[in-house]
Amino acid sequence: MDERGRRRHGGLNQLACPAVHPLVHAALVACVLAFGSAIEVLPEVKLDGLIRSKFQGKVAAVTGGASGIGLSLARRCLRSGMKVVLSDGNPDLIDKASLQLKQENLEGFCTLRADVRDPDDMASVLRCCQENFGRVDIFFNNAGVIGEPDKGVLDTPLESWKWILDTNVVGLINGMQTFVPYMEKQGFETHIVNTASGAGLYSQHRATMGPYVSSKHCAVVLTQAMKVELAQRNSSVTPHLLCPSVVATPLVPNSRFYLSNIRALDNELDPISKQFDERLNQDGMTPDMVADLVLQAVVEDRFLIMTHPEITEKRITSRYHELKQSLSEQPNTGY
Ligand SMILES: NC(=O)c1ccc[n+]([C@@H]2O[C@H](COP(=O)([O-])OP(=O)(O)OC[C@H]3O[C@@H](n4cnc5c(N)ncnc54)[C@H](O)[C@@H]3O)[C@@H](O)[C@H]2O)c1
Ligand SMILES: *[C@@H]1O[C@H](CO)[C@@H](O)[C@H](O)[C@H]1NC(C)=O
Repeated sequence: MDERGRRRHGGLNQLACPAVHPLVHAALVACVLAFGSAIEVLPEVKLDGLIRSKFQGKVAAVTGGASGIGLSLARRCLRSGMKVVLSDGNPDLIDKASLQLKQENLEGFCTLRADVRDPDDMASVLRCCQENFGRVDIFFNNAGVIGEPDKGVLDTPLESWKWILDTNVVGLINGMQTFVPYMEKQGFETHIVNTASGAGLYSQHRATMGPYVSSKHCAVVLTQAMKVELAQRNSSVTPHLLCPSVVATPLVPNSRFYLSNIRALDNELDPISKQFDERLNQDGMTPDMVADLVLQAVVEDRFLIMTHPEITEKRITSRYHELKQSLSEQPNTGY
């Protein structure tokens, strides 16, 4: 786990809110010190123990599992003694991932090619869980694409918009509708983790990537809506919403695999996509750390999983102020 990542998640940092009066803040810090209630990043050994006590021998399924965050989730689960069904839409990435996990001496997983946009494919992911391992305990609804980072709302071709929404939104819905009813029928406590993004929580200030940001806002809201529905029927399925900021993954090049099925692409990445790819991979948190934080949230039953709390706080605060400011500029209608 890298040091920078660790520092960002120090328990007391989360209380460093400038809006709080210094005395209140001091009191909160004192409480935290006295009662140890601040959440901290768990050391690997402790996390491993907690996962094992709850999930050893149990079964996780992950979509988009052949790379990045999905692969790290699979690795984290396998390392703590779970079985894993790893699915992905890109067969070459599956072969690579499978080899990599075997080289790490991890076993107890099976892989299949499945496109999250296709309900039949999603049904085969579920069947794979049933036939190989007989149950599902955690479903990671994780596959996603960045779209075309150099294009915005106005110049993203419609077929590309449809691809992005179909993957990042309909793909999630497909996963929820396939897995949740089965998991509820099992009758024991289970978890579903939807991967959205910090980009689904804050305002958009870039002149590009509007379609991605739109899709992630939708992913956030539909997961919150699912949470209310599950709570209302006392479901045995606990939902979680993952909203990471920058993570070091090949999200940009991997998305082109799917885009190339829509239209012919240049061999070279455009400068904006290249720059975005570099930003993710130079500044990003490791996907292994994201996976640790996700499993920590699952064992602690926390709904919102914000892996970059400092960055996220700044951006959601600025969104709040923007909205609040615009309210003060409206005519007073008495409502
Ligand atoms: N990398 C980041 O900075 C970041 C930040 C916030 C959220 N996310 C989200 O995390 C999730 C995982 O992305 P990542 O960063 O690990 O990238 P990644 O490209 O390494 O992993 C995504 C995987 O999803 C697969 N996939 C894409 N479309 C699919 C489809 N239609 N059917 C099945 N599989 C498909 C890809 O083949 C790939 O293996 C995505 O939803 C992404 O939007 C990433
Ligand atoms: C859910 O549980 C509560 C409290 O136990 C109960 O009052 C309610 O009727 C239950 N709702 C459903 C739909 O089962």
